[in-house]
Amino acid sequence: MECEIRLEPSMRAPREARRFVSHHLCDFGYLKLVDNAGIIVAELVTNAHKETPATPIWVDLRLAGGYPLLEVWDCSRNPPVFKDPDFLATEGRGLHIVDALSIRLGWDIFPCGKVVWVLLG
Ligand SMILES: Nc1ncnc2c1ncn2[C@@H]1O[C@H](COP(=O)(O)OP(=O)(O)OP(=O)(O)O)[C@@H](O)[C@H]1O
Ligand SMILES: [Mg+2]
Repeated sequence: MECEIRLEPSMRAPREARRFVSHHLCDFGYLKLVDNAGIIVAELVTNAHKETPATPIWVDLRLAGGYPLLEVWDCSRNPPVFKDPDFLATEGRGLHIVDALSIRLGWDIFPCGKVVWVLLG
């Protein structure tokens, strides 16, 4: 399994990403990961779109050590920031949700932007 989609800057990007991930996870027999992966990729693509509203986002899916590895690439070098839990806040939950639904979450910064990656399982 190794596939990629380029998402043009648009409000539709999270939905397209969810469809892409569901389709390929099903194809490769990871049906039980589809629901969580859909939530995860929608959160990460929404974050990337907020950060880089005028440039594309790339979503990659491949296997790493027997688990699907999801990558969301954007053109900003700013890292994600876990916000402190706050029961009254209406934002700041996305990364905590991704963290709770995945095996591992991380990011790497490059000269041209960054990748936020999630090991699904
Ligand atoms: N791809 C990204 N590029 C740059 N900064 C990011 C990126 N993703 C997240 N961040 C930063 O990390 C913060 C926390 O992200 P998180 O998804 O947890 O919360 P949120 O997007 O602010 O709100 P919510 O997801 O609950 O609607 C964001 O507010 C933003 O400052
Ligand atoms: Mg978010």
